[in-house]
Amino acid sequence: MGSRDSYLARRLRPFTTTIFATMSELAADTGAVNLGQGFPDTDGPAELREVAVAAIREGHNQYAPGAGTPELRRAVAAHQRAWYGLDLDPETEVLVTVGATEAIAAVMLALCEPGDEVVMFEPTYDSYAACAAMAGAVPRLVRLHPPGWSFRPEDLEAAFGPRTKLVLLNSPHNPTGKVFSQEELEQVAALCRAHDVLAATDEVYEHLVFDGAHVPLATLPGMAERTLTISSGGKTFSFTGWKVGWVCAAAPLVAAVRAAKQFLTYTSPAPFQLAVAHGLGLPPETLRTFATELAAKRDVLCDGLAALGYEVFRPSATYFATTDIAPVAPGLRAEEFCLALPRRCGVVAIPSSVFYDPADPDAGRTLVRWAFCKREPVLRDALGRLASWGP
Ligand SMILES: Cc1ncc(COP(=O)(O)O)c(C=O)c1O
Repeated sequence: MGSRDSYLARRLRPFTTTIFATMSELAADTGAVNLGQGFPDTDGPAELREVAVAAIREGHNQYAPGAGTPELRRAVAAHQRAWYGLDLDPETEVLVTVGATEAIAAVMLALCEPGDEVVMFEPTYDSYAACAAMAGAVPRLVRLHPPGWSFRPEDLEAAFGPRTKLVLLNSPHNPTGKVFSQEELEQVAALCRAHDVLAATDEVYEHLVFDGAHVPLATLPGMAERTLTISSGGKTFSFTGWKVGWVCAAAPLVAAVRAAKQFLTYTSPAPFQLAVAHGLGLPPETLRTFATELAAKRDVLCDGLAALGYEVFRPSATYFATTDIAPVAPGLRAEEFCLALPRRCGVVAIPSSVFYDPADPDAGRTLVRWAFCKREPVLRDALGRLASWGP
């Protein structure tokens, strides 16, 4: 009998990092505190939950329009204008997706020909290389270096070539928590313009910034027409299970992405779209409060890890902090450390090596990512448990 799976499934298998499932299973088996996957342990605003519940009760339970409900498309356009001064036509320049995850996949499928190259910064969020593979495209990785997670401009320049189709930029960045500076964004934009390359930006942590400011690439000169801006409501409002995302771009680009989205999921869940639309209309101070609360959690975790001897790369944004474990666990690789941690200390974390090219087994070998989007007593409990790590 021939192979039961397809060429694509086999090609995708190396990207299906089972580490998240393994770690969640280990957390369940050992009763460990789970600082692995990035989801909060408390829900977002009750008022948004009520909008979703009311939407279900009021009968918003059939297919929403393929491009998204008019309420959410208008709310996204209004949000981009109010926060960033970007003008979008909600009819043609906003597409609602099933989370940012579907947006990333649909963008790759819609824009890349087999063999096209996609420039991305490494460590990379885990869906990027897999989505490139689905489209037959090839990642060109530009390494970010700790402690500041900066890239060498010459590395970025060298990643652009005749086959470059797209730059996929994630800022604020998972797993490092880096917010790309204006100067770095200008370098990316200059290369996009010089090589006539499109950009897709993953901005799901746009409202979870503690230090510095988030600047969408689309606001830089000449970039609005060549940038597809992706975001979602999951992180902003602490409802990661709702999976409502969007893509904003010039009408022809949105039309191309919509063609791919139509045959992936056709449309996104109607009640949650209405709730996220409501959320985007919350006063800016409310959104800033979410970041302030999260910054306090970042400080609890980062200060605690530093006190335990870890080298901490304090993030400027997101849900995650990265540490070098070498001072605490000399000679141990991040995977070994993370597999031992649940049983030895009752804590789960993610080895950052999973965010690097598997062809480079030494990349990120002593880096570990910890999620701090948890209640403060949970973080303090985890830190107490970690104190028992010993030789
Ligand atoms: C960088 C990044 N992009 C996209 C996503 C997924 O977003 P969504 O849940 O909206 O699909 C995540 C979730 O962890 C993420 O960290």
